[in-house]
Amino acid sequence: MVRLPYTTALTTLFSYGLLFAFGQLRDFFRKLIDWFKAKNVKGYAPICLGLEDFYVRRLYLRIQDCFGRPIASAPDSWFDVVERYSNDSNKTLQRTSNTTRCLNLGSYNYLGFAAADEYCTPRVIESLKKYSPSTCSVRVDGGTTKLHTELEELVACFVGKPAAILFGMGYVTNSAIIPCLIGKGGLIISDSLNHNSIVNGARGSGATVRVFQHNSPAHLEDVLREQIAGGQPRTHRPWKKIIVIVEGIYSMEGELCKLPEIIAVCKKYKAYTYLDEAHSIGAVGQSGRGVCELLGVDPGDVDIMMGTFTKSFGSCGGYIAASKEIIQHLKHSCPAHLYATSMSPPAVQQVISAIKVILGEDGSNRGAQKLARIRENSNFFRSELKKMGFEVLGDNDSPVMPIMLYNPAKIPAFSRECLRQKVAVVTVAFPATPLLLARARICISASHTREDLLKALDVISRVGDLVGIKYFPAEAPKIAEAGHGKLE
Ligand SMILES: Cc1ncc(COP(=O)(O)O)c(C=O)c1O
Repeated sequence: MVRLPYTTALTTLFSYGLLFAFGQLRDFFRKLIDWFKAKNVKGYAPICLGLEDFYVRRLYLRIQDCFGRPIASAPDSWFDVVERYSNDSNKTLQRTSNTTRCLNLGSYNYLGFAAADEYCTPRVIESLKKYSPSTCSVRVDGGTTKLHTELEELVACFVGKPAAILFGMGYVTNSAIIPCLIGKGGLIISDSLNHNSIVNGARGSGATVRVFQHNSPAHLEDVLREQIAGGQPRTHRPWKKIIVIVEGIYSMEGELCKLPEIIAVCKKYKAYTYLDEAHSIGAVGQSGRGVCELLGVDPGDVDIMMGTFTKSFGSCGGYIAASKEIIQHLKHSCPAHLYATSMSPPAVQQVISAIKVILGEDGSNRGAQKLARIRENSNFFRSELKKMGFEVLGDNDSPVMPIMLYNPAKIPAFSRECLRQKVAVVTVAFPATPLLLARARICISASHTREDLLKALDVISRVGDLVGIKYFPAEAPKIAEAGHGKLE
């Protein structure tokens, strides 16, 4: 839960107010000049004007160098960031041929599979030669290879469900699947901080959507009770079905879902549970099986388990694991299965190989080591950041740790200064977060060494002092000393 200090809220609001006022003033003069120059001769309504356009032009573009930085290597613990410059006050950015080697604190490479791996990479190259990068076909035509069926069985077994189905993209998995599970007359109750793919899937389903307070089983119960009592809008008929949608680890908060409590509420009111494990599958749990394993939940109690291969497995695509009946239904009805080209075979092979390493089926204990490492790294990094006085969101064991920045001026200041000191961080602001809650989102990887983490902490601490984002009193004397103590 974010504790936004009163003065910080005021100064943040003031900063946005100032940006907004100056932006409006500049737009006013632009309109005047345009009006003198040319009338809207063709008679078309402007296609891009609106608040989003204003936000992009007057706020985002000023700091766009902090976003979408091109990368020139694999997203390993260190990677090459392409240098850019602007000749027009950041309106456009030009790439140079120079790169800077930076410590990578932004990629979702939780288990370190995104870089070359002794087990995965040779197999992926073999599959590339055998199957090519694309099946050039949808699953129901010629797009199902042996690898696709093998991965479906492996995923189902890995997450503890009877069956699974694959999709070419994690985003599409949510946005295309939810409308196949529920429609008009149904009720979706969604966590207020669920990912945009869930929001769009829910909107596109035609079902009624209600939101419950982030990660609050008590509020979920209130919403369920109220909705069941009231029934469908106007007719007050009982809901055809109710689905509660939550995430395993919230991608912008780094928080673990209160899954046992939420499942208990869902069971009490006979609502289905849909769990998005994009950030938790592979990353948490003793054997990487996600939040069910970590929190002691029987996967049989979660009706629909969704996950992506873009984080812990270093690949792309998504899956749904559920009962055989549900998967059969999706195979016959989901447009993303029937009409979209299937997952790229080398990407499928990458996931198969990564899961085999995690399960120790490669004949080594690298998987167990990676899992121990991500846990150790995440907990060490989080506790050190907190000791320094940063406001860090999220729970222990989560590799996602947002550091609160709040003020819009601190977004570019933090991002640029870290980059200057060869640490690449991801900063996130509105609309991905509420307006006042801008943050830097650190993603820790099993491939980070203790030296990497110490360097990152040292840089973040210095930049934190410079930018003024240590909102709490520091606990430990100096990170360098604390860190060296731990190393020895
Ligand atoms: C919770 C959640 N669900 C779904 C997705 C979409 O997954 P992908 O990026 O693999 O398309 C993301 C992306 O980060 C996510 O955070």
